[in-house]
Amino acid sequence: MQHPQYPRQSKPAQATPVRPTIYQAPMEGVIDHHVRALLSRIGGVDICVTEFVRVTHTRLPRRVFTRLCPELDQGATTPNGTPVKLQLLGGNPKAMAYNAAKAVEVGAKSIDLNFGCPAKSVNNSDGGACLLQSPSRVEDIVAAVRNAVPAEIPVSAKIRLGYQDRSSYLDNARAAEAGGASELAVHARSKVDGYRPPAYWEYIGEIREQLGIRVIANGDLWTLDDFKRCREVTGCDAFMFGRSLLARPDIGLQIQALSDGRDYQPLQWHQVAALLYDYYSTTQDLYPAKYLGNRIKQWLAYLKLSYPEATIFFERIKRHRDRELLEQAFAEQMQPADSHHADFPHTDINAA
Ligand SMILES: Cc1cc2nc3c(=O)[nH]c(=O)nc-3n(C[C@H](O)[C@H](O)[C@H](O)COP(=O)(O)O)c2cc1C
Repeated sequence: MQHPQYPRQSKPAQATPVRPTIYQAPMEGVIDHHVRALLSRIGGVDICVTEFVRVTHTRLPRRVFTRLCPELDQGATTPNGTPVKLQLLGGNPKAMAYNAAKAVEVGAKSIDLNFGCPAKSVNNSDGGACLLQSPSRVEDIVAAVRNAVPAEIPVSAKIRLGYQDRSSYLDNARAAEAGGASELAVHARSKVDGYRPPAYWEYIGEIREQLGIRVIANGDLWTLDDFKRCREVTGCDAFMFGRSLLARPDIGLQIQALSDGRDYQPLQWHQVAALLYDYYSTTQDLYPAKYLGNRIKQWLAYLKLSYPEATIFFERIKRHRDRELLEQAFAEQMQPADSHHADFPHTDINAA
């Protein structure tokens, strides 16, 4: 593989007062357009990414893109105007190129390529993290997509640090850049690392030093303290939040306030419950009755990591699909803490 010349000296880290750019991480089966609308409305999220569109050998019809990304019909932004990248996953450069061009034709303004998915079903059919075993394939896929879409459409990539181990992290990062990626999100684990802590942020720092494009740090940024440490370790000016954004939906606002030197009162549980209710109300008629409340329970599994109240709420509704009971349970949760259960002190959500 041909590599362009890379700067060998260390690039200085961004000066700390600069407001970092905050990305929502793609999450298949979890962060759909409703969740993107909600998270971007809360604020502090600069860029969203869709779940992946699976590309095999076929030419996908328009509806496949618009189903996963209805925002394509609205200028590829969420209702509040936050840009949404369309993510593609696949191992065949020609098919990826064709479908990227199609995505742009139907409204995509920015394409992201998935080289991180660890799922067996995906890896067995030649997509996601398995491609990291061959950096030249990463380069070929990025280059094919880059060449297939107009110059003004950014093409980015998202990688893990490797497949079996983390040894290929620089080769794959360089391959993405050599293929023409405009920026690179790095989930700081190998495929085999799965989602087990820790996330190895120090590798991201090295990638950032070696590449000329923006590198976005991702993995286990659960708290404001995690963010500060990751910024220090990586020197990055862009950060991506997935499970952590669901656990702490205003983490972006917290980071913005920190960067601006402003005080900020993090969302309290009753406010989060109201947002969750909003999501429930918007989506309740979209699923068969036997699944009513399932998406809420899924989100509560993440919220439990930051809000102890979420555990209580989850226990209350976990066996129920009854509309009336869910409404009643939500009504209780949306009461401010002092009128609701004064004996339950609100947790400091900035604590690790
Ligand atoms: C349920 C789930 C679905 C995911 N789906 C995708 C996906 O479609 N595309 C992708 O690039 N990464 C996907 N990821 C990885 C996340 O984008 C992110 O890299 C990872 O969760 C680490 O960030 P976090 O610690 O903030 O969650 C997924 C992760 C989870 C837990």
